[in-house]
Amino acid sequence: MKAVVFDSPGDETVLRLADVPEPPLSPRDLRIRVLGAALNRADLLQRRGLYPPPPGVTEILGLECAGAVVEVGADVRGWRAGDRAMALLAGGGYAEEAVVDAGSAMAVPEALSIEEAAGFPEAFLTAFSNLIQLGAPPPQAAVLVHGGSGGVGTAAIALGREAGLRVLVTAGGPERCRRCQELGADAAFDHRAGDFLSRVRQATGGRGVDVVLDCIGANILEANLSCLATGGRLVVVGLQGGARGEIDLSLMLRHRLSLIGSTLRARPAAEKAALVSDFLARFGKALRAGRLRPVIDSVLPLADVAAAHRRMQAGEHFGKIVLRVPA
Ligand SMILES: NC(=O)c1ccc[n+]([C@@H]2O[C@H](COP(=O)([O-])OP(=O)(O)OC[C@H]3O[C@@H](n4cnc5c(N)ncnc54)[C@H](OP(=O)(O)O)[C@@H]3O)[C@@H](O)[C@H]2O)c1
Repeated sequence: MKAVVFDSPGDETVLRLADVPEPPLSPRDLRIRVLGAALNRADLLQRRGLYPPPPGVTEILGLECAGAVVEVGADVRGWRAGDRAMALLAGGGYAEEAVVDAGSAMAVPEALSIEEAAGFPEAFLTAFSNLIQLGAPPPQAAVLVHGGSGGVGTAAIALGREAGLRVLVTAGGPERCRRCQELGADAAFDHRAGDFLSRVRQATGGRGVDVVLDCIGANILEANLSCLATGGRLVVVGLQGGARGEIDLSLMLRHRLSLIGSTLRARPAAEKAALVSDFLARFGKALRAGRLRPVIDSVLPLADVAAAHRRMQAGEHFGKIVLRVPA
């Protein structure tokens, strides 16, 4: 099969299409003929040699895909060849075929195109796991999502709105802020225009937010903790602004704050299956009704993977960049 490979880490020009062996199928797996695979920021890090796949996982990039099931493992129930599937992957999406534990796959509802489905699992399950499950916002809580314009951020806006939360976001520039509000964010603050802390306090009448979903890390750590209401939770999922910071523990004690970090990729298959199942139990109806759909920035052919990476690296995208894999 064709897949995107690279011989040594580097910029996007190291990526090339090559013939590679089809991945082996285990009894609990589905084999998916990939028709679309979406980019994630982690792919850029892996390409640069900074985020190796977990042990035993393919070196092929790609944390999510959608397509048609072509083979069903002997122990799998509920799937048939020909079904449309979208899946959370630990790797291997940038290819004509991917195999995945059946628990990490979801049926593609009629409401979604294959391109939309390709950009759904990683972004929405990250937002669900971190904003909804780990953040555990009370009903009608106010939450702050950094990077409301990104793949995870746009998904978090959709889930937050569906869950009845008051969603505040940060994004880079007035136009991107406007688009976040169009998607349903209650307020959007331009992180290029300076400090978000005072804006969050102002927007919440001085109370602060119940949850911060953060993809930036160290360089806004202090402001993130300071904008939490009493009992609030800071959930860190990305480190675009650095990994090492200083914490005022007295602030955490006084306001009974929690700091949580998490990644999705390396979780065991059983945990991912539980996550998918919990997501569908809470949001499956909204998904099937077409109320949850990723924002698609652009769709490029798999062969143009370098251009797709360039676009994400430059921060030009809003939402998800999808690679179309020829049928
Ligand atoms: N832990 C996990 O399980 C997990 C899973 C998936 C993703 N992630 C992480 O989540 C983050 C988002 O991933 P993605 O795939 O959605 O990437 P993405 O689409 O490239 O989104 C990145 C976002 O970061 C925003 N951003 C950059 N600098 C910012 C700043 N100083 N303040 C506020 N926002 C800023 C960008 O906003 P503007 O362009 O508008 O400035 C953009 O919306 C990445 O760090 C990724 O590694 C973690």
